[in-house]
Amino acid sequence: MGLYSQVIFPICLDWAMSDATFSHYRQEVLSNVSGDVLEIGFGTGLNLSYYPPQIQKLITVDPNPGMNRRARKRIEESNIIVDNRVLSGEDLPFEDESFDSVVSTWTLCSIPNVDRAIAQIYRVLKPGGKFFFIEHGLSNEPNVRVWQNRLTPIQKVIADGCHLNRNIRQIVRISLRI
Ligand SMILES: C[S@@+](CC[C@H](N)C(=O)[O-])C[C@H]1O[C@@H](n2cnc3c(N)ncnc32)[C@H](O)[C@@H]1O
Repeated sequence: MGLYSQVIFPICLDWAMSDATFSHYRQEVLSNVSGDVLEIGFGTGLNLSYYPPQIQKLITVDPNPGMNRRARKRIEESNIIVDNRVLSGEDLPFEDESFDSVVSTWTLCSIPNVDRAIAQIYRVLKPGGKFFFIEHGLSNEPNVRVWQNRLTPIQKVIADGCHLNRNIRQIVRISLRI
């Protein structure tokens, strides 16, 4: 992982994803999270202030140490105790059925082996546990899809592996057999 991924991209991401539009989605989805929580793709910690007050502890994973460095200040300022690990979502070192909630915001677009990561998420969720996620993905509009396919190779370079053209709904449904 080079200078761009570890230093420049985390700064750009933190700035771009602090926007009010993102905050609105974060608030809406995270307000329903409960119990033992795992967050996949913690990034710079922008979700932290949106967890409900009853969440006192959180385990997070992200493979980019540069993201974790920028997340540190938010962790220090938060009332939540964060166990922040430099790990990939595809290889979670947690017991089966150990979390009530798994959270992922704008991360399924970037995980190289997303099917494997979703299988891992499913494995670590307790029976009745919930997967809370927010994503962008493949449009229903054919004209938009053409451009999503054209621009994805560029996007992957600029946005550190992010795909514009993943059919997230289908990927989650197939992986979870729903
Ligand atoms: C667009 S950012 C979103 C960050 C954060 N979730 C947010 O909402 O601000 C995508 C994140 O996915 C992380 N990521 C990339 N590959 C990953 C993987 N294999 N497992 C877990 N996270 C990954 C990146 O390091 C980055 O922090």
